[in-house]
Amino acid sequence: RSAAHVVLIGGDGIGPEVVEAAAQCLEEAANLAGREVRFTRAAGGGEAIDRGLGPMPDATIQACLHSDGVLLGAVGGPRWDRLPGALRPEAGLLELRRALGAFANIRPVRLFEGLEDATPLRPEVARGTDLVIVRELLGGLYYGARGRRDQDGRILAFDTMEYADVEIDRVARFAFELARKRRRKLCLVDKANILETSRLWRERVESLAGEYPDVECTYQYVDSCAMKLVQSPRSLDVLLCENTFGDILSDEAAVLAGSLGMLASASIGGPVGLYEPVHGTAPDIAGQGLANPIGAILSAALLARLDLQWDDVAAMIEEAVAATLQEGFRTRDLVAGRATEGAGGGAGTPAVRVVGTREMTAQILERLPLFA
Ligand code: NAD
Ligand code: IPM
Ligand code: MN
Repeated sequence: RSAAHVVLIGGDGIGPEVVEAAAQCLEEAANLAGREVRFTRAAGGGEAIDRGLGPMPDATIQACLHSDGVLLGAVGGPRWDRLPGALRPEAGLLELRRALGAFANIRPVRLFEGLEDATPLRPEVARGTDLVIVRELLGGLYYGARGRRDQDGRILAFDTMEYADVEIDRVARFAFELARKRRRKLCLVDKANILETSRLWRERVESLAGEYPDVECTYQYVDSCAMKLVQSPRSLDVLLCENTFGDILSDEAAVLAGSLGMLASASIGGPVGLYEPVHGTAPDIAGQGLANPIGAILSAALLARLDLQWDDVAAMIEEAVAATLQEGFRTRDLVAGRATEGAGGGAGTPAVRVVGTREMTAQILERLPLFA
């Protein structure tokens, strides 16, 4: 069997720290399953800009297109915030997503057992959260025309949201299929009381719903959905969102999982998938060894499952993460909610142990063989 070839783009801030952790877990789990993975490191984001290569070098895009999967940390940071929009690190990420044809961004949100006290929400609210945000990733405000013009001596700035029927259909089908494999509930999140794009989304989703009679299809305005997420998250299964709404709701949903550092994502639909934690470069903790690597590690598991079709490797990683959390290991972001160091320990719950990126990764690596 030939080795799988994975491109690693660390990016900026905590990006490289969490990508290294994820690569280690993927490599170790693959080895335990008798499989082989080969890594290529590629430049992207601010780090590439600083090397004079621009935010997403062509060589990186080519390497990704010729790989079996791409793992990306995060890009951006204060250092590059004053660059013109099109030259910023974030523009490089948009370019990569487009080059890879990654129109469907899958963001699973679940509260791992033992993390009930990591969320600032009441445990009885967050417990049992298990939903997926399906975010359209190649359209809407992110890719529409934007700019500025002078209007009667005033500065006018504009961003435009456009969606074509085919762009909606392809990601909506994806969401219906996913719902079918889950609790068969799909909710389209929109702003159809105001936006024409949202009205087209509803029309398309309504007509597709006829092909999926086994899936319960509902519609909710995004503002109301934002409330429902933290009010009754257990009622939600698959949320289908246009690009911007999906971006915003996923950071909100991260609170249900205990921390933004927990969320993984798969950006798929093209020939090669892009796997990225949902969080950013966390400039406030970068370089300190404090980052939660689990979002990136679970992204590597998604890469194994969806791009490499290595279900055994994916399950091994996910179970090792779950076991490590159950035994009380927490990065600092996971004790900001309610838990405190040394808490627990009674009634069969292990004491909370606050660790850094490396120690968390080592604990997960140590548990992989238990699930081989
Ligand atoms: P952020 O996600 O980087 O950070 C928000 C907060 O969450 C911070 O307090 C941070 O410390 C914390 N946090 C995030 N990930 C964490 C982790 N793994 N472990 C522990 N704590 C974590 O969002 P921001 O501060 O708004 O953005 C910072 C930069 O990242 C910006 O330049 C932004 O454009 C960029 N960004 C990039 C991506 C990406 O490349 N996919 C995603 C989001 C933001
Ligand atoms: C994300 C990020 C990106 C997005 C930015 C950095 C371009 O916030 O992946 O959620 O908005 O898509
Ligand atoms: Mn985001």
